[in-house]
Amino acid sequence: MLKIVVCVSGGGTNLQAVMDSIADGTVTGTKIIGVISNNKKAYALERAQKAGIPAFCVSPKDYEVREDFNQAFLHKIEELEPDLIVLAGFLVVLPGEMIKRYAGRIINIHPSLIPSFCGTGFYGLRVHEAALERGVKVTGATVHFVDEGTDTGPIIIQKPVMVEESDTPEILQKRVMEQAEWVILPKAIDWIANGKIEIKDGKVISRQ
Ligand code: GAR
Repeated sequence: MLKIVVCVSGGGTNLQAVMDSIADGTVTGTKIIGVISNNKKAYALERAQKAGIPAFCVSPKDYEVREDFNQAFLHKIEELEPDLIVLAGFLVVLPGEMIKRYAGRIINIHPSLIPSFCGTGFYGLRVHEAALERGVKVTGATVHFVDEGTDTGPIIIQKPVMVEESDTPEILQKRVMEQAEWVILPKAIDWIANGKIEIKDGKVISRQ
């Protein structure tokens, strides 16, 4: 059984998609052992509680120095002992120590087709604003392993979504979530839980 901890900052629709996929058997061999938010008010925490999943808040606001927050966050993760950490709309830069310690065991969902519209400053609605400003006709979402860079780790799965001329950032965000994010995040977790993929030479390949 793959024990996962899901880290969230906001609404938690991706968390919900993962919980639903485990409940309906689309994702197998997986248990969510905890949800951690950096934001006390995140609706994602309520979603976890409603599903009977232990939910925690570790907020940078409760610490005077960043390093103390980093240690508290890492401590909470260590306490839970996850096999995999899933960043599902987690808008906090991970402590370097944590990335090293959990190399190959952290994944992130990003709302564009990496390497477009990713890296520092590209998160949430901003990603879709940038896509519309550039006038791309296709966007999408990506699930990737997390490395030391921002959105630079090995790509696990991507799904394209068509852009429409009447799109606003909000409309596009919703379509990318519905058509791509809520599909590929559970799928990536299922692949990992069932040993279907591995990282070779910095790329994700199917395990033979
Ligand atoms: C999602 O669109 C996710 O891809 C994005 O934040 C949103 C969270 O929504 N993540 C990033 O932009 C990371 N760079 P949710 O809380 O409803 O799942």
